[in-house]
Amino acid sequence: MTAKLIKGTEIREEILEEITKEVQEIKEKHGVVPGLVTILVGSSPASISYVTLKIKTAHRVGFTEVQDDQPVDISEADLLALIDKYNNDDSINGILVQLPLPKHIDEKKVLNAIDPDKDVDGFHPVNVGRLMIGGDEVKFPPCTPFGIQEMIIRAGVETSGAEVVVVGRSNIVGKPIANMMVQKGPGANSTVTIVHTRTKDLAAHCQRADILIVAAGVPDLVKPEWIKPGACVIDVGVNRVGEKISEKTGKTIAILKGDVDFDAAKEIAGYITPVPGGVGPMTITMLMLNTLKSLKFKLGLM
Ligand code: GUN
Repeated sequence: MTAKLIKGTEIREEILEEITKEVQEIKEKHGVVPGLVTILVGSSPASISYVTLKIKTAHRVGFTEVQDDQPVDISEADLLALIDKYNNDDSINGILVQLPLPKHIDEKKVLNAIDPDKDVDGFHPVNVGRLMIGGDEVKFPPCTPFGIQEMIIRAGVETSGAEVVVVGRSNIVGKPIANMMVQKGPGANSTVTIVHTRTKDLAAHCQRADILIVAAGVPDLVKPEWIKPGACVIDVGVNRVGEKISEKTGKTIAILKGDVDFDAAKEIAGYITPVPGGVGPMTITMLMLNTLKSLKFKLGLM
């Protein structure tokens, strides 16, 4: 069998077009557009490249975008004051503080300071609680799990009654996606198992999965014989395993590998996400959707 590829790069384009259209409609009817601020502390190259892409994407879909760069030695108090400023700024619907933060700043304190109704990352405990309750309570699902669920829905994979196995128990991917798939509603209603580093027989659990979601951060962890024939395999892993010269730009770029042995797995799975070009592009896309949703909640359109 050769699996159908679920391409995040294509789904991203569909969703960004939908967002752009909706932003225009809201602008015409209500005279406002979503506002997103990204706060970057310091100058880590990886964080700069993520934030640059977030701002570029926000601009593309017609948002007001603010990039607020702060020095690496900003005090925790000053960062909290900055967040408070944006919490009280009516033109801002989404606040994103790029992680990781420097060691002298308490990350938890900073995330908890963001107004939960502007927390488009979905990391605030109030939004984690809303996600756990499910249904109408949910405001901002965290962007990577939100993107995974959307990919599964748009690929037409049946989730109701499906055995979903999630490999990994992180707060950003494993725990929230497991919680989302078990809820009532479209793209959910699944029977969910979370497996992790202490699980006794990883292979046996994976072999039961109709939908296998792998977010372990271990290159090629999932072997082809762990995959049920026809299963939908979502690979969240982005592991840097070396460097190469880009044919397009001539620059040195990272060689990326997923958590699944892709070449072998694609012969067994029914659906599979590639790395790169699978889950990766969905995260920023869903950040845009959460920011649009934030404005729609405020306008009473949701
Ligand atoms: N750093 C790496 N990924 C993310 C993300 O999704 N959100 C934030 N705020 N920081 C990150």
